[in-house]
Amino acid sequence: MNVHIRKAEKGDEKLLAAMETICQLGTWRESSYDSEIKNVLSTYVIAEIDEKQIGFAGDWCVAEEAQIMRVGVIPEYRQNGIGKKLVVALMNDALNKGCDTMTLEVKSQNKAAITLYERCGFQIVGKRLSYYADGSDALLMTCDLKDEKKEDTL
Ligand SMILES: CC(C)(COP(=O)(O)OP(=O)(O)OC[C@H]1O[C@@H](n2cnc3c(N)ncnc32)[C@H](O)[C@@H]1OP(=O)(O)O)[C@@H](O)C(=O)NCCC(=O)NCCS
Repeated sequence: MNVHIRKAEKGDEKLLAAMETICQLGTWRESSYDSEIKNVLSTYVIAEIDEKQIGFAGDWCVAEEAQIMRVGVIPEYRQNGIGKKLVVALMNDALNKGCDTMTLEVKSQNKAAITLYERCGFQIVGKRLSYYADGSDALLMTCDLKDEKKEDTL
């Protein structure tokens, strides 16, 4: 599977909002992604196969810490290593911007995402009880970027 990872740019808002819905990530619409793309602190990356968009991920880099905001792969392309490529692309980008750690929150029952993050070098460091609107708990995960040697680059 020849997957290409590129940075999101102005004009990608609509497809990011569509993937947000398909991946059931949350309620961000085109206007939310318009703000995200304009924000100098944020980076969004898109995975493509033959110019078809099949996943995306985004983070915020603030001082030395990056926080993952979104990761989603459309259902028919899951479990092919695309989620990992997207997270690794964000990790490399954050490292290049001078970040030394990356953090995220994930629903405690989201086995696929937790496994993905563990494979990328994240560890569970805390739990936020009833963090999400549906009452489920969040696990807080972090990764020391300098400890992780990543092959893929953006
Ligand atoms: C989480 C998600 C992004 C993973 O994407 P993906 O492309 O399937 O992930 P990868 O193929 O790179 O898999 C990475 C690792 O996780 C494992 N994994 C992926 N899905 C899994 C599942 N459903 N159950 C168990 N392990 C799973 C893979 O086997 C792989 O481990 P390995 O390296 O030991 O083989 C995808 O399932 C998704 O979009 N889910 C809905 C949105 C979501 O929950 N996003 C995260 C919000 S915090």
